Amino acid sequence: PIGLVDGKIIDISENIVPMEDRGHQFGDGVYEVTKVYNGHCFALQPHMDRLYRSLRELAIPAVYTYEELTEFHELLIKKSGIMDAAIYLQITRGVSPRTHSFPENVVPRLTMSIRPSSAAIDKNKAEGCKAMLIPDERWLRCDIKSLNLLGNVLGKQKAKSAGCWEGIQVRDGIVTEGTSSNFFVVKDDVVWTHPKCNLILTGVTRTLVIEKIASDLGIVVVEKKFDEAFVKSAQEAFISGTSTEITPIVTLNNQPVGSGSVGPVTHKIQKAYWMLID
Ligand code: PDD
Repeated sequence: PIGLVDGKIIDISENIVPMEDRGHQFGDGVYEVTKVYNGHCFALQPHMDRLYRSLRELAIPAVYTYEELTEFHELLIKKSGIMDAAIYLQITRGVSPRTHSFPENVVPRLTMSIRPSSAAIDKNKAEGCKAMLIPDERWLRCDIKSLNLLGNVLGKQKAKSAGCWEGIQVRDGIVTEGTSSNFFVVKDDVVWTHPKCNLILTGVTRTLVIEKIASDLGIVVVEKKFDEAFVKSAQEAFISGTSTEITPIVTLNNQPVGSGSVGPVTHKIQKAYWMLID
């Protein structure tokens, strides 16, 4: 499998992570995952906009232009020949002897990889998945797409161990988001999702659902906080994400959501998302 380090194509099995890369030692960096459909990156611009924002929030200098990053994505597609893929990109603060505070004159380091899209999750998209509510144990800057994913990793594993596909996180009684997805419920024909703030990632897919899909379909979306009881009284639930796309949730905490099958509003939004990809 191939990847790219600071603009150069490499084999990802090569030893490319220096011992003292701050991403490796501190999780001091940011990332993006972008999907490739039919040889083309989907929604690359909003992903790169969010990358630049994450870099700004962590005061990591942006040493690559949008044009360069676009070229690197295209190069990986071309060199790998993988037409349906997920491209992973990360930028760390750089390589420097280990000390917590920012080192001086360190150069950010870019690494990327390309992998074929996983077919395993297509069944979930069609039939819906199981999810469970779990405590949100992450830090307070979930709006930054940082490499520090331990809270998300532990949450996902908790859900997986219980036979679920996703863990839906709850902080102070408020339902925030999935461990690698945004979360929506449908109640009385209105779509609800947690407002944009430091407690969730502003998903590119989430933004498309709200600003493009729901708006085109005339579906009302409210970005307001809601609790567990509200979720349990909802007729439908779904998650959104770059790989997840729109995945219905049909079982939550072992209880059916609404009818226990994919609901009509979720189905409409999912179909509209697939139209955008085509
Ligand atoms: N995850 N919330 C969290 C915590 C996420 O990790 C993700 C994406 C999302 C959805 O964002 P988007 O629609 O921009 O993909 C929401 C990526 C795909 C990952 O970590 O693999």
